[in-house]
Amino acid sequence: MSDRIIDFRMPQSLVMGIGASRQLPDILQKKGIKKALIVTDQGIVQAGLLPAIRAPIEAAGVGVAVFDGVEPDPRIEIVAACVSAFKEAGAGAVVGLGGGSSIDIAKLVSIVAAHGGQVTDYIGTGRIPGPGAPCFALPTTAGTGSEVTPIAILSDTNAHLKKGIVSEYLYPVAAIVDPSLMVSAPPSVTAYTGMDALTHAIEAYTNRFAVPFVDALALEAVRQTGWHLRRAVTCGIDLDARSGMARAATLGGMCLGSVNTAAVHALAYPLGGTFNVPHGLANTVLLPAVMEFNLPANLDKYAAIAEALGEETRGLSRREAALRAIRAVKDLSVDVGIPQGMRHLGIPQDAIPKMAEGAMEVTRLMNNNPRAITVRDVRLIYENAY
Ligand SMILES: [Fe+2]
Repeated sequence: MSDRIIDFRMPQSLVMGIGASRQLPDILQKKGIKKALIVTDQGIVQAGLLPAIRAPIEAAGVGVAVFDGVEPDPRIEIVAACVSAFKEAGAGAVVGLGGGSSIDIAKLVSIVAAHGGQVTDYIGTGRIPGPGAPCFALPTTAGTGSEVTPIAILSDTNAHLKKGIVSEYLYPVAAIVDPSLMVSAPPSVTAYTGMDALTHAIEAYTNRFAVPFVDALALEAVRQTGWHLRRAVTCGIDLDARSGMARAATLGGMCLGSVNTAAVHALAYPLGGTFNVPHGLANTVLLPAVMEFNLPANLDKYAAIAEALGEETRGLSRREAALRAIRAVKDLSVDVGIPQGMRHLGIPQDAIPKMAEGAMEVTRLMNNNPRAITVRDVRLIYENAY
């Protein structure tokens, strides 16, 4: 598949670097925005991040309203509440400030506010009819890369599943990636989100539909994570480490539009949807077991991942070199304090058959897996990750 044609898309603008968020007022003004709704969550409010974003926008003569009701792994219902806030405020643009949840909600509000209906009308791929209200994304975690993706994820609490919405119209107008907004993320959040970024990179790089151009982005995201995640977790105020992880997350996100993830993310959906396990944590406990299953599909690429994570592979056989990638991922997840196995996440072992069925339904991602996978394989992977 290496000569497959890709249509590589990005936000119109990626503004990146320490202090980049100070450019937001200027960016809003140049786009002719009169009033913006900031979409965020209580964690951001309590961390005291809001005034430093809000005040300069107002000082530039752009009106601001705030919706601070985004929750982790947001439910479908949150979108309608946020659209009401957007309309009541008379806003013309949305600013997503927070982790992937706040940015995903901002992206979806921009669509529902412009096209009407319910957000559930747009679930699936390619169902949004046109551009939404201008959306600007300021991530405060280094993980989902949502600021540069055409994807938003919601929790369907009735079906106990995560639902994905994918559309070219979900790219924000501008992604503003400022590592200084990430220093207040607590160690556990830094670890989970950083491992999510690593998972995006590994799943894109080893993807059945991988292409060399995206491979380059993915492998660099792996390398940046290997260099910077431990330090970002153990010393959150280290701006160099935060910058490295911001690079990793954005590079990882850039792999999702044209290649996307595979079985790790599909298997993680039921952990999030049924047992409320945070997305990055769910991915991390599953990643080594899925890598082990996928290893025979591409020994050379797994060996390259091992090298990118700093493993010495000289003198090893191809298979031994590839196996080092799994060890490196496990070592990293131990070092950043992640529980080793699903048994530690309050998931009963007898839930595995049902979870395996749920994961198989995520065909959008399962089809990307480098090795063909059956429901029996999925049950075994869950058992190995337990
Ligand atoms: Fe993810």
